[in-house]
Amino acid sequence: MTEHTVIPAGAYPHYSAIMTPEQLQAMRAHAQTDPDAFWLEQAQRVHWFKNPTQGFVGSFENDVSISWFADGTLNASVCCIDQHLTDKRDQVALISQREAEGRSESLTYRDLHERVCRLANALTYLGVQKGDRVAICLPMVSEAVVSMLACTRIGAVHVVMFGGCSADAVAERLVDSGARAVITGSMAWRGKKIVPYKETLDEALQKAGENSNVKAMLVVRTSDEAVPMLPGRDYDYHDFVDHFEADFIPVPMNAEDPMFMLYTSGSTGKAKAVVHATGGYMVWAAYTMGMVYTHQPKDVLWCTADVAWITGHTSVVYGPLANGGTTMISDSLPTFPAPGRWLDLIDAYKVTMLFTAPTAVRAMMADGDAEVNKRDLSSLRLLGVAGEPINPDAWLWYHDVVGKKRCPVADTWWQTETAGVVLGPVPGVQSLKPGSATMALPGVEVALVNTEGRREEGPASGALCIVRSWPGQCRTLWKDHDRFRQAYFSMVPGLYFTGDGARRDEDGYYWITGRMDDVINIAGHRLGTAEVEDVLGEDHRIVESAAVGVPHAVKGQALVVFAIPCKSAATEVNEKDISRLIASQIGRYAAPDAVYLVPDLPRTRSGKIVRRLLRKIASGDTETLGDLSALSDASLVETLCAFVQKQA
Ligand code: WTA
Repeated sequence: MTEHTVIPAGAYPHYSAIMTPEQLQAMRAHAQTDPDAFWLEQAQRVHWFKNPTQGFVGSFENDVSISWFADGTLNASVCCIDQHLTDKRDQVALISQREAEGRSESLTYRDLHERVCRLANALTYLGVQKGDRVAICLPMVSEAVVSMLACTRIGAVHVVMFGGCSADAVAERLVDSGARAVITGSMAWRGKKIVPYKETLDEALQKAGENSNVKAMLVVRTSDEAVPMLPGRDYDYHDFVDHFEADFIPVPMNAEDPMFMLYTSGSTGKAKAVVHATGGYMVWAAYTMGMVYTHQPKDVLWCTADVAWITGHTSVVYGPLANGGTTMISDSLPTFPAPGRWLDLIDAYKVTMLFTAPTAVRAMMADGDAEVNKRDLSSLRLLGVAGEPINPDAWLWYHDVVGKKRCPVADTWWQTETAGVVLGPVPGVQSLKPGSATMALPGVEVALVNTEGRREEGPASGALCIVRSWPGQCRTLWKDHDRFRQAYFSMVPGLYFTGDGARRDEDGYYWITGRMDDVINIAGHRLGTAEVEDVLGEDHRIVESAAVGVPHAVKGQALVVFAIPCKSAATEVNEKDISRLIASQIGRYAAPDAVYLVPDLPRTRSGKIVRRLLRKIASGDTETLGDLSALSDASLVETLCAFVQKQA
């Protein structure tokens, strides 16, 4: 029934929509007929030192080159802070709720300016210059936001890393990015678990050894526990930074100068860093967030994403601040120490716009309606989700129970590579369909491409592609432009291929059907199955392995690993070893839900592993295994099913 539910735009009489449906249509038409003029107008959402006169220059063909606003100059920290110092000096820019310490901190735009400048001076003193990479690995504390902005003030390229990454993964990223400095925290609590930030960084730097370019590490004391500090390399963040001057002249950046890199998983090889350019990214962050999460006076936007993800960059930091809003961060968990924890925080901080992941919605839903109904939640006016598909049931629960049918739910589809929302509604302007990310924002044209490589028209299914460049498009993969070209532009020549499949209905609404490549999405964390298989491939106790994603009621997908143990290995391997190996090489978030040690893997006669079959077997969906005649050994299927059943 839910597939056909349509909630008209007018269902929210109290929601102050930013435009009329006619204006939205006119905006689309203008963007279509004169894209350069449209984007140069949108570019005025941010402050430029030198206004750009050029829109897009480049091509998706051949070598693929992308440039936006190339003759403009700007500084991202000015767009996010200085631009508001005249009229919003004393408005709160950032609320940081510190769950573990039971306190919070509010920074006005003036405070933020002061902190960012002090750190910019400190980093400069440590030798960080324009173009240098700075790694940031911090929990959700105000210093994380300050660090990102301080890098941009200097023109340094920040590389924010997830606290859940293992020392090996951090070491790899430090070496690959050539980071000159690191900003981290002593440790953080995640529920009852400790995330040992400093320890992980120490171990990573030790592993990286001479291949690391890290000269200095700033450590935010995030707990009372003492952590070992290496003299000459490590500095206590506040003891060091707070003595620097509270003013720093921002470095003018060319629009195409890189602003930040983010490591993300693809369908092949190790995680690669996506590179974003300053001008296009800032315009795109201001535009996309301005279209979906428009700040009104007194709005508090709480995007629960970790800053280490693209959502943390665009929806926590750059989008809200470029638009002069108040953004909130918190190191809390949705249902810890008790169900309804996030709901309490919404009431306590009068959150007006909540933006989270479908996994969190499903986790709250599992705690039941009564938890929600105990709270007021009347401050909320807009709800949003991104990062993974949301099932219509969870969407409706979020809308009806959390939002009390008063708040539009914006399901937004985007990627690390797109930097901001591509598919998503302008709330209060477009009708909503639970489970659909609606359609592309004005200025973006998406297409569905069939298996013959042709664009489909009207209602259809296919590979989701983007037809023309958009300002926030990532420019390349760090040190691997060839892989960039291969990964995104080779599948459908001339178009950007997202990796996702989608369906377009009769009203032109898009329904994401999931990844078409070997990337899985666990609670919104992207993971390449090839990354997992590579880790196991390096262990001499394992002959071969296959990692697959299976449906999971809360996390969306879970990781399942099939591995063939080596009979001749001196030491035996068990399921736990395999989990530990993956967690230690990639990170805790990648630990599989199930591991099966099997005699072989199902293959075609040409030896290719049939993952489709493994996914079905792993999820217990054995009724419809389909035609097995193409397998080299069909009898293996029964054996594998028995393995899965035995462990279930
Ligand atoms: C998936 C997260 C369905 C998709 C912002 C995409 C979604 C990948 C949605 C990117 C959505 C993101 N509905 N699927 N609303 N949003 N995805 O790079 O498969 O961490 O390709 O960026 O998440 O994940 P990433």
